[in-house]
Amino acid sequence: MEMQHHLFATRFIIFLIITFVHVPSSTYANDDERYVNCGNLFDCGDIKGVGYPFSGSNTPDYCGHPELKLDCSDQDAEITIQKLTYKVLDINYQSRNLSVARKDYAENICPTLLLNTTWIPNTLNYTSDDQNIAIYYGCLPQVAPTLPYSSEFPCTKNTTAMTGYFTAVSDFSVFGSSASNLTSYLASCKDSIEVPVRQSALAKILSTPTVTQLLEGLNEGFDFVWSANDTSCEECKSSGGKCGYNQTTAAFSCYCKDGPRESSCQQSPTAAPSPTAAKSPSMSSCLLLFFSAGVTLEVNRKTA
Ligand SMILES: *[C@@H]1O[C@H](CO)[C@@H](O)[C@H](O)[C@H]1NC(C)=O
Ligand SMILES: *[C@@H]1O[C@H](CO)[C@@H](O)[C@H](O)[C@H]1NC(C)=O
Ligand SMILES: *[C@@H]1O[C@H](CO)[C@@H](O)[C@H](O)[C@H]1NC(C)=O
Ligand SMILES: *[C@@H]1O[C@H](CO)[C@@H](O)[C@H](O)[C@H]1NC(C)=O
Ligand SMILES: *[C@@H]1O[C@H](CO)[C@@H](O)[C@H](O)[C@H]1NC(C)=O
Ligand SMILES: *[C@@H]1O[C@H](CO)[C@@H](O)[C@H](O)[C@H]1NC(C)=O
Ligand SMILES: *[C@@H]1O[C@H](CO)[C@@H](O)[C@H](O)[C@H]1NC(C)=O
Repeated sequence: MEMQHHLFATRFIIFLIITFVHVPSSTYANDDERYVNCGNLFDCGDIKGVGYPFSGSNTPDYCGHPELKLDCSDQDAEITIQKLTYKVLDINYQSRNLSVARKDYAENICPTLLLNTTWIPNTLNYTSDDQNIAIYYGCLPQVAPTLPYSSEFPCTKNTTAMTGYFTAVSDFSVFGSSASNLTSYLASCKDSIEVPVRQSALAKILSTPTVTQLLEGLNEGFDFVWSANDTSCEECKSSGGKCGYNQTTAAFSCYCKDGPRESSCQQSPTAAPSPTAAKSPSMSSCLLLFFSAGVTLEVNRKTA
């Protein structure tokens, strides 16, 4: 009888412990998985505290816009925008400013593959601080006009020597009567691309038009400004949700504890709750049932 009583007490204590430990973890496990996974800031290389509209590192894609996925596997945070990979220099959430520098110009003015810098309509745009510089490749050697703000440079592309040329001005009228010479010379070049630099970098390139100065300017980067349903995200966050993007519906999604909404957790649900939310009898619930049964059994035995 003494033994039975002891066993009963032990079971009752275990029952209490399980009940106590079970409650908070069960609320967590029943939350929408997207709500749980999004909204946590992450570090990506040197860039600290990254969040919506960016995804990357361990943050799932659905936590950010599909075009704004960061690659954090390298030492540098990187982003690939329409085939070109950029080093991310800074992310400013106040001004929605993404500062980047082209990786292909990190060391060399002659990249293997020539691609124009491009923005993404409706998502990434240039800012008024961005100034374009035109770089030409595969030009006729030794006949380049000698002009201010411009320079000829040697290029070795895939072991083939060639001539390159750049001019930091877009309006050739500053060259007066030489403008037409420049135009006809540039027509001899096989390829051309345009690269943006900041206004401050352009000023330095204009006063010292060398390849070294140009490379320095390119590596100082330039800015994109993003638009990623920012008002929806503000609304979502203030209603207790986490911002995200549904790639299937190609629309902003506000992840709430009990499932996604269009833009606010106060709205009625847009879709069925995630499968994990409907997870029925959990392990701890089963244990709880087992111990309750044990307690009942003890009580019955004692009264018998
Ligand atoms: C964007 O960020 C860069 C780097 O922090 C800064 O130099 C630039 O002025 C910013 N531009 C805007 C429009 O805020
Ligand atoms: C992109 O920026 C330019 C000015 O820098 C502005 O004129 C244009 O309207 C912007 N486009 C979009 C889609 O915001
Ligand atoms: C421009 O071209 C003309 C004729 O092709 C030539 O006589 C002149 O020297 C050139 N000027 C410069 C600055 O190269
Ligand atoms: C570089 O040269 C190699 C050997 O000549 C060739 O196989 C390769 O396709 C070239 N690459 C490019 C990008 O031109
Ligand atoms: C880059 O853009 C310029 C200006 O739009 C164009 O003339 C040039 O052909 C483009 N270059 C490439 C490699 O696409
Ligand atoms: C999100 O932005 C896109 C393009 O800017 C727009 O077409 C769409 O309606 C926006 N969605 C929401 C929910 O605001
Ligand atoms: C995207 O929307 C579809 C259709 O509403 C839904 O089935 C899917 O679970 C959603 N995905 C995410 C990641 O929200």
